[in-house]
Amino acid sequence: MTTDLFTPIQMGRYTLRNRIVMAPLTRCRADANNAPQALNVEYYRQRASAGLIISEGSQISLSAVGYLGTPGIYSDAQVAGWQKVTDAVHQRGGLIFLQLWHCGRVSHPSMLPGQQLPVAPSAICAQGYAHTVTGTQAFVTPHELSIAEIAGVVADFAKAAENALRAGFDGVEIHGANGYLIDQFLRDGSNQRRDEYGGSLENRTRFLLDITTAVIKVWGADRVGVRLSPINPFNDMRDSHPQNLFDHVAQALNPFHLAYLHVTEWAGHDDSQPRPEFSFTQLRAAYRGTYMTNGGYTFDSANTAISTGAADLIAFGTLYIANPDLVERFAAGAPLNEPDGSTYYGGNAAGYTDYPSLKN
Ligand SMILES: Cc1cc2nc3c(=O)[nH]c(=O)nc-3n(C[C@H](O)[C@H](O)[C@H](O)COP(=O)(O)O)c2cc1C
Repeated sequence: MTTDLFTPIQMGRYTLRNRIVMAPLTRCRADANNAPQALNVEYYRQRASAGLIISEGSQISLSAVGYLGTPGIYSDAQVAGWQKVTDAVHQRGGLIFLQLWHCGRVSHPSMLPGQQLPVAPSAICAQGYAHTVTGTQAFVTPHELSIAEIAGVVADFAKAAENALRAGFDGVEIHGANGYLIDQFLRDGSNQRRDEYGGSLENRTRFLLDITTAVIKVWGADRVGVRLSPINPFNDMRDSHPQNLFDHVAQALNPFHLAYLHVTEWAGHDDSQPRPEFSFTQLRAAYRGTYMTNGGYTFDSANTAISTGAADLIAFGTLYIANPDLVERFAAGAPLNEPDGSTYYGGNAAGYTDYPSLKN
């Protein structure tokens, strides 16, 4: 019998009923306190037949914010809001992990406490724009974190992990991808430090491993995943030797025995740029645990990836925006709804909870 998207799998502590994962998707529809609200509960409830839902990125502290309307996991109101989301998903027999997020340099003083500068491994300004209350504004040169401040951020991750546990999640995913703070430490285009957090591969990986260790203390390794994006240039990211770096990161994560490693092959919003040379097969071989992939997968290419052993789980992003019942549609061979890019970020139920299911 071939293994496909519908073959159950043991992932850390959990048996998933299928291998179809809802990828983390920022939708900027939290309330004024950055807490999930009724609209968000309905959105996640609709998608609960996924083998696993990974929540949208959720800020671990006030200093971690980088966008308007995104949820956090640092206040009691946010924990209470998320509790309603996790209850709704569980009522439908689903599983949901929270994505722990720190935006680092990709933020703006206008959205940070006391108009403080965004933080980063090095004082290197990203090319690009933050979306602030007064419109788009160029990124600023961030504040370089001191060693003591790095320890403070790691402690914030641990506290946020505790909050996620209180909110009833089934696990957490550490957001090490897409040009945010952890990725800024990993890649040498944004990390030029000369201390134990910069320079060698080992040093640039240290921040991720510190956070992984702290979060595992709260959750146990079998309920913690890590997300990486080796070739995504989004947020002005680059590395001089991505294969060496990410093979090293995968090997460094092996001893933790995580619930999964999640690698997005996604290369950003701009498809006009050539993709850098990178072998995901080699990366997958370097990692010894459960491996989730993502980035442009369809029903057919996902089944091929699973049946050939290229991946154990597939995360779907844009398909999940438009198809709340993606699992049922795949099972029935039914046509898929088309996502509307104009309603991805912000707004109300339109383009969020009003995509039709087969049943309505
Ligand atoms: C609207 C939107 C929001 C996203 N938000 C997040 C996020 O919060 N965290 C994250 O790790 N990736 C985020 N991503 C990336 C997706 O998880 C995924 O990697 C990307 O959409 C490629 O997968 P796909 O081809 O299946 O859509 C986002 C992508 C989109 C389109």
